[in-house]
Amino acid sequence: MKLSTEISGLKLRNPTILASGILGETGGTLLNVARNGAGAVTTKSIGIKPKKGNKNPTVLETEYGLINAVGLANPGIDNYENEIKTALKSKIPVIGSVFGKNKKEFVLVSKKMENFGVNAIELNMSCPHARGYGVEIGEDKKIVYDIVKNVKKTVDVPVFVKISVHTNILSLAKNIEFAKADAIVAINSLRGMKIDLDLKIPVLSNKIGGYSGPGIKPVGVRTVYEIASNVKIPVIGCGGVMNGKDAVEYMMAGASAVQIGSGVYYRGVDVFKKICDEIKLWMKKNGYKRIDEIIGVALK
Ligand SMILES: Cc1cc2nc3c(=O)[nH]c(=O)nc-3n(C[C@H](O)[C@H](O)[C@H](O)COP(=O)(O)O)c2cc1C
Repeated sequence: MKLSTEISGLKLRNPTILASGILGETGGTLLNVARNGAGAVTTKSIGIKPKKGNKNPTVLETEYGLINAVGLANPGIDNYENEIKTALKSKIPVIGSVFGKNKKEFVLVSKKMENFGVNAIELNMSCPHARGYGVEIGEDKKIVYDIVKNVKKTVDVPVFVKISVHTNILSLAKNIEFAKADAIVAINSLRGMKIDLDLKIPVLSNKIGGYSGPGIKPVGVRTVYEIASNVKIPVIGCGGVMNGKDAVEYMMAGASAVQIGSGVYYRGVDVFKKICDEIKLWMKKNGYKRIDEIIGVALK
């Protein structure tokens, strides 16, 4: 049974990718994810200088998923070279996630990521809880176009753009394609909140966080479906992938691969192996020999 897939020339042994922000802060944890079966790993989003992030609590569990407001805490690009070098020992593609507050920062950090050896860049323009760095940038399609175009001019590795649904996704996706990005990653977490009934205040110190996990899967699948129906560049699905059937669903909606974040929290670091086994089982039952045969079958 063939699980291998390809995204704009980037070859993956299977379609499961570690999503940004989960276990991605050190090279050691990225290596461990690779050993546990991932087809590729994405780093934590890295910016131009070290960033502390928000005060605790930053992650909490709700009925159907997690809400986090980590706040893009990261060591800064100049302190991240060794982590990339370690992660590259895995021999699977390493995707460097980059954030910034303007075009100059995105371009600079992307170039450094490429110099450190990453196999692709993911531009995070969709963080729902880091003021000045996230959704505010990603919702302006002109700014997005400008950043993508300039990063593309600067690096040779494939460039993916991770988007939020808090925007007009179709015109944004078209602009991203027009700027010559190599793939779109959909979706980042959704803006969410939880109130403490006794204290009568939001639980997160940041008040608002990003909602992820099982509850957001239908939104992710719909977004991938709509994007894949309207642009030609590959789409990587993300949001609530917990098991093999979730991965198959995203791929039927048009995703060439899926990213897994909260699934690591719910099922452990070997979630990648587990999901690959579940995909194989589904393929066997349904008479498929190659996973890429199901990409976009629901797009009729
Ligand atoms: C604790 C946590 C931290 C995250 N940090 C980042 C990040 O640094 N950059 C990013 O692009 N997405 C980040 N995300 C969003 C995930 O990559 C993913 O888009 C989202 O959680 C939806 O996928 P999931 O339902 O599989 O978790 C984070 C998510 C969580 C739960």
